[in-house]
Amino acid sequence: MNTFPALWQSLLPIGRDPATGGYRRFCWSPAELDCRAWFETTAAERNLRPVTDRNGNLWAWWEPPEPQRARPAAIAVGSHLDSVPDGGAFDGPLGVVSAFAAVDELRATGFVPARPIAVAAFAEEEGGRFGLPCLGSRLITGAIDPDQARSLRDPDGISLADAIAAAGADPSTLGPDEEALARIGCFVELHVEQGRGLTVPVGVASSILAHGRWRFTFTGEGNHAGATLMSDRRDPMVPAASLVLAARKAAVGDARATVGRIVPVPGGTNVIASEVNVWLDARAGDDATTKSVVAEIQAMARQAAAEEGCGIRVTQESYGDTVVFDPVLRDDLSTVLGGVPALPTGAGHDAGILASRVPTAMLFVRNPTGVSHAPQEYAEPDDCEAGVAALAATLEHLAS
Ligand code: HGY
Ligand code: MN
Ligand code: MN
Repeated sequence: MNTFPALWQSLLPIGRDPATGGYRRFCWSPAELDCRAWFETTAAERNLRPVTDRNGNLWAWWEPPEPQRARPAAIAVGSHLDSVPDGGAFDGPLGVVSAFAAVDELRATGFVPARPIAVAAFAEEEGGRFGLPCLGSRLITGAIDPDQARSLRDPDGISLADAIAAAGADPSTLGPDEEALARIGCFVELHVEQGRGLTVPVGVASSILAHGRWRFTFTGEGNHAGATLMSDRRDPMVPAASLVLAARKAAVGDARATVGRIVPVPGGTNVIASEVNVWLDARAGDDATTKSVVAEIQAMARQAAAEEGCGIRVTQESYGDTVVFDPVLRDDLSTVLGGVPALPTGAGHDAGILASRVPTAMLFVRNPTGVSHAPQEYAEPDDCEAGVAALAATLEHLAS
């Protein structure tokens, strides 16, 4: 009973930009609310009990028939439904659709779980609207202060609290959720691989790079592009440009440093900016290397700002140390799946955040080009089916 293709097609059109073919499923935006509705409908069609937790994470519960007093902790599977701007179709949704399809596959065999199974979709994994990745899993584990979360603002200045309220939910409930965590025995996230390291249909994750985001604000003097002599300028765009080049220069070895977002104020073609905001995404295999790469970039940016007579402010917006997945669970799943390879990932995931509180693992599905966070992101249908079968086998193994 292969329900993946129909399920995949039912989600595919939601939040897709026809002009680019990419997705704009930003947390608590109309497109993402449609994704939430899709999740609830999909759960209801399967008689899975849908729950939206205090942090806006979605759950669909498959509970054993006999009400057990001391219910054992559940096996949770899933990922996220939100996207980066112009993200691909697979990053996140592949894990959620595969989770529902794996439940369908197990039910079709008559399997009755000895412990609850939950399909999960975590809120704002990409940080694509409010700037902090894995927001839903960081909230549930207490990794971010709820008041700080409520005051996060999107590029239009709308706070998370206002966005939640506008969607008809209650922002005052945000915060650590010990009961929710106690209900989870382990979490397995299936995800499209986002590099070219997987040459077979399915693999398991070994680790996640240390990574974080830093906001650089350069300040200068807004002025006229034509009437202002070059010698009279304090143009913050100049140190901003230096930061981009410094990131490329500092990211040596296996380190990665990216500037994907620059916002000048006011942003007129014939206007020297008064301020330029630049976001740096930096990652490396360990904490010390990541921090030293960022320190080198900061030093170069400070020097460039001083040379241009500009101010500079640097704010760390998020950071997570290297995550090494539970090796026992990793190897157990690799064995269950026939000895699939274990590989590291340069992408962050909710499974990486939850790993601080519950045993977690990840299954990767081959990405033939390795492209991700772009409309061209792709996984072959056969590999997606192999992912569903692997997730079903994982659930049967862990929930027996
Ligand atoms: O940025 C990441 O690594 C993930 O896609 N949130
Ligand atoms: Mn992503
Ligand atoms: Mn993802």
